[in-house]
Amino acid sequence: MDGAAGGERDCLLDPAWSFVARADLDSITAEEWAVLDRQRARFVAATQAERALGWLRAMAASPSFGYEINIFRHCLQTATRMLRDGLAEETVVVGLLHDCAFEAAPATHGLIAAALLGPHCSEADGWMLAHHQIFQDFHCHHHPGLDPGARERWRGHPHFEWTARFVARYDQTTISAAGEALPLAAFEPMVARFFARPPRPLALALA
Ligand SMILES: [Fe+2]
Ligand SMILES: [Fe+2]
Repeated sequence: MDGAAGGERDCLLDPAWSFVARADLDSITAEEWAVLDRQRARFVAATQAERALGWLRAMAASPSFGYEINIFRHCLQTATRMLRDGLAEETVVVGLLHDCAFEAAPATHGLIAAALLGPHCSEADGWMLAHHQIFQDFHCHHHPGLDPGARERWRGHPHFEWTARFVARYDQTTISAAGEALPLAAFEPMVARFFARPPRPLALALA
């Protein structure tokens, strides 16, 4: 929909649900909040995994800016390599979606991935997502504008080694047309299970 005249309601996910027909949050009653919270929980459970996958799918036909493969195929290669290495399903999903915000937010896509996935994954994986961009610079030895030593400010951090390993084995090595990439469908049930887990509170920082 590109817009609507006033008065027209959108549909509910479940026709048996109720509308809370208020014009502002100020006037919603406790009973109505209970309705919204109950329906919201079911709405999130039904849609979140599919919406997150949608971010990835939106880049499936994207052109590359120079690498042999686009960012979508890069993500599939990352997840495939992690799967072949026997990593935990949760971490495979983190790998699959680590660059899902790349095209919308190239400079900050790691933080966005951390915000999206962090509530459902380990603290180590969330930290890795937020910092993987800077750790990647370590491998860009001949890039004139990047500092390979930028990651050193976090040397000794509990998640330094995992982040360095993710980038070394699963990120900087999955840029070639020769790499194996399972279809997205192979990972979809994993993504559904990932988001089905209750979210935990998340504090995001690059410090
Ligand atoms: Fe990235
Ligand atoms: Fe990547």
